[in-house]
Amino acid sequence: MPDPATYPAEELANIAANAIRGYPAETLGYGPIEGLADLRMLIAQRYSTPSMTLSKSNVLITTSGMQGLDLVGKALLDKGDLVAGQFPTYLGALDAWRPRQPQFRNMDLTSADCDPFAAMNAAKFAYTVPNFSNPTGRLVGAEMRSTLVDAANQTGAWLIEDDPYGSLNYEGPLPPNALEIAMRCGDTGPVVYLGTMSKLISPGLRVGWVIAAPQMIEALTLAKQGSDLCTSGITQRIACEVLKSGIIETRQPTIAAHYRSRRDALCAAMSEHLSDWFEWEVPAGGMFIWAKARDPRINTDRLFEIGLEEKVCISPSSVFDANGDDCTGMRINFTLNAEDRLVEAVRRLARSVERLLKEHT
Ligand SMILES: Cc1ncc(COP(=O)(O)O)c(C=O)c1O
Repeated sequence: MPDPATYPAEELANIAANAIRGYPAETLGYGPIEGLADLRMLIAQRYSTPSMTLSKSNVLITTSGMQGLDLVGKALLDKGDLVAGQFPTYLGALDAWRPRQPQFRNMDLTSADCDPFAAMNAAKFAYTVPNFSNPTGRLVGAEMRSTLVDAANQTGAWLIEDDPYGSLNYEGPLPPNALEIAMRCGDTGPVVYLGTMSKLISPGLRVGWVIAAPQMIEALTLAKQGSDLCTSGITQRIACEVLKSGIIETRQPTIAAHYRSRRDALCAAMSEHLSDWFEWEVPAGGMFIWAKARDPRINTDRLFEIGLEEKVCISPSSVFDANGDDCTGMRINFTLNAEDRLVEAVRRLARSVERLLKEHT
């Protein structure tokens, strides 16, 4: 969850009123399945590079990033198909694809042993969150991003690049997206890029986009028709005006500073209270700290249960494992709560760990 205090309520209220008054047919009626032409053009312009100019035919507007994941599953997966997923994996992606009963193959992109060519062999697609992943907050390095594109080209698997967190960048420039790397050859190649308004503007808008080759956009459009006919015209028009207004760019540094301070407060409290039991890296962006247990007696599924009794909530690592086996880690969010609540949360978590360890004595 973002901090609701960061939602630009006044700006959006004005934009919404003007949008409905100025475009009543477009905002209050049904619209094209692919999304408003204006919004598709704005997204195409935003992601065009010197090597390639994207057009509307490369863009589908979705009812946020989550629908992009769902449509990819609908369009590409049959029972038993293989998905090569960055491990640990975003829970919502697993939820979107599980009903289609695929097999999952884990790719730990931070491990020196990881071979994407082998992992993607015979896969329908690979799934990656290269910028400040959910749940780990880590960045996939520039070299690995190129390797993923090469492996997708060689194996024939699509490469799903899910990027909700790239704009929540607290430290410095990011490596190029896989989309940009693929576009250096003049087209989007195997990359299916998913973007969203959720993290920097408001998740309530439910506006996202897919950028891909025109034939993939056509397949996803067909899948979208059976899902919701079209994304809300009101929020699409608001998204157009938001993109034109420049408020994303002007607000980014303030939001980054706000979340950086929360991240630092959480990490400082964790160093004081949890470092005997857990280790973690300080992420350069995103919303999460990913902590791994040092002590084998710590099972984070059990810690989650005790934590709820102490009124603190972690996400246990098992939910980010397609097989549900990993009970050695936890994801902690630092964007929703203010610094003082984060410090109190860590104290409660430390109490929960003590209680858990007592169960072993
Ligand atoms: C990795 C990832 N992908 C997609 C989403 C979906 O976000 P939305 O549907 O709000 O765009 C989320 C939400 O937290 C996420 O963490």
